[in-house]
Amino acid sequence: MDSYIDLKNITTEELKNVDLDRVNVACSPPDLEPQRQYYFMAKCRQIVKSESERLGRPLYACTVTMGCQMNARDSEKLTGILLAVGYEEATEETADFVIYNTCTVRDNANQRVYGRLGVLHGYKRRKPGMKIALCGCMMQEASVIEKIRKSYPFVDLVFGTHNLFKFAEFLYTALVSDRMVIDIWQETDRVVEELPCERKYPFKSGINIMFGCNNFCSYCIVPYVRGRERSREAEDILREIRGLAGDGVTEIMLLGQNVNSYGKNLEHPLTFAQLLEKVQEIEGIRRIRFMTSHPKDLSDDLIRVMKQSDRICRHLHLPLQSGSTKILRAMNRRYTKEQYLALVEKIRREIPDISITTDIIVGFPGETAEDVEETLDVIRKAGFDNAFTFVYSKRTGTPAAAMAEQVPEAQVRQQFDRVLRTVQETARKQAGRLLGQVEEVLVEEQNAHEESLMTGRLSCNMLVHFPGGRELIGQYVTVSLDECRGFYYMGKRR
Ligand code: SAH
Ligand code: SF4
Ligand code: F3S
Repeated sequence: MDSYIDLKNITTEELKNVDLDRVNVACSPPDLEPQRQYYFMAKCRQIVKSESERLGRPLYACTVTMGCQMNARDSEKLTGILLAVGYEEATEETADFVIYNTCTVRDNANQRVYGRLGVLHGYKRRKPGMKIALCGCMMQEASVIEKIRKSYPFVDLVFGTHNLFKFAEFLYTALVSDRMVIDIWQETDRVVEELPCERKYPFKSGINIMFGCNNFCSYCIVPYVRGRERSREAEDILREIRGLAGDGVTEIMLLGQNVNSYGKNLEHPLTFAQLLEKVQEIEGIRRIRFMTSHPKDLSDDLIRVMKQSDRICRHLHLPLQSGSTKILRAMNRRYTKEQYLALVEKIRREIPDISITTDIIVGFPGETAEDVEETLDVIRKAGFDNAFTFVYSKRTGTPAAAMAEQVPEAQVRQQFDRVLRTVQETARKQAGRLLGQVEEVLVEEQNAHEESLMTGRLSCNMLVHFPGGRELIGQYVTVSLDECRGFYYMGKRR
């Protein structure tokens, strides 16, 4: 018989290649992370296997991502563990294990979760062995946990953003118990690495370079649910990217709530521009993207590094939020309308082929028609290539929620439509910019509506649909941009 592996004797580097079926789970769990999580993965694996044998079919798990790119990256970690313990991936929420990775940035995200939980309950009634789990930003709110405890007792597992690395351990507890398992941490200074991860795309990947946020924009709940800003060590980031490159990844996206303040709290401080310079030396990485840039921290160094690079993509997401200096001050954004416009002008001057996209909030407390007029003015002058427009959502606990002049809904709707129309006009104008050119795209997938078409992404982040076969997925091909249809192009291979 094969000898058993004692995880206490395995180094973190060796963990990836450990055969979970040979791990000794008769002993006590290791205290050290991530060894401890591999121990629980091995234990879960036994349960999943015996349950699957009993049912005579595989067990399925479904991970639902509800938030931003960081949330999506977390989902890849969840899925990685679910696959490692023996589940097969499912997209239907009728699976044996369903986990919602939630977002709470706006209230409609929360309402969606409650609505869908009702539907899940129906599935679970018909399938008693089913397990339902909730994690992500929304779970960091005490009022949410109260509500789930009281009104959604059929949920099996609840955890938050700070202890996601313990998912395997939680999963084990949930699989062997009938009560609701809840574990939420208020903060963490830990970054546990080297856990399994299942990428959605084999050829591209997000990489966390920092966690949390220190900016406390007055409307925003993220600093409360994601905690204080923590940068990862550059060496750890570079090692992860080298590993990804070795695994076939050619496009990466560096992720953080404010990447421009990367590295400030490291023992040996390093700027984001310096990090990018190191990243672009990694062999095999052809495209580098990043999200999100806060205008107040965007340095000349970053513009210079981007300009000189043929790997950093020609796209910058630069959230404006409002064009009114008065509102920006109330939002605690720490830049004025003029500073924002000057920054955009400088970027466009240095990197003329860059595409700039943004986020805008309409209906912040105290916002008047004149303030919206200022926003429209910035939209026209900055010439955004695209903008995500949001109706202000009151988040309990944020300073803005306590502000006196909340704007009536009807007025917000009206202003929102004006902003949206202006955004669409400028975006349409900008979008046609590359018409007639031949550009390189990374082929991402087959078109969902038309099988003969493939979809590729341009450096500027726009999509191109062109005739081709699935064998092109993950490859770089050149296409002519023959026709612009608003937010995407139709093209042909050249
Ligand atoms: N860290 C990023 C944004 C993260 S949240 C940044 O600073 O740009 C993504 C977007 O959601 C924000 O840019 C903002 O436009 C929007 N948002 C955040 N809180 C919101 C709220 N309370 N109501 C409406 N939109 C909000
Ligand atoms: Fe929220 Fe502002 Fe932090 Fe972005 S920078 S996550 S908007 S507090
Ligand atoms: Fe939402 Fe959390 Fe991202 S609140 S936007 S999933 S950081």
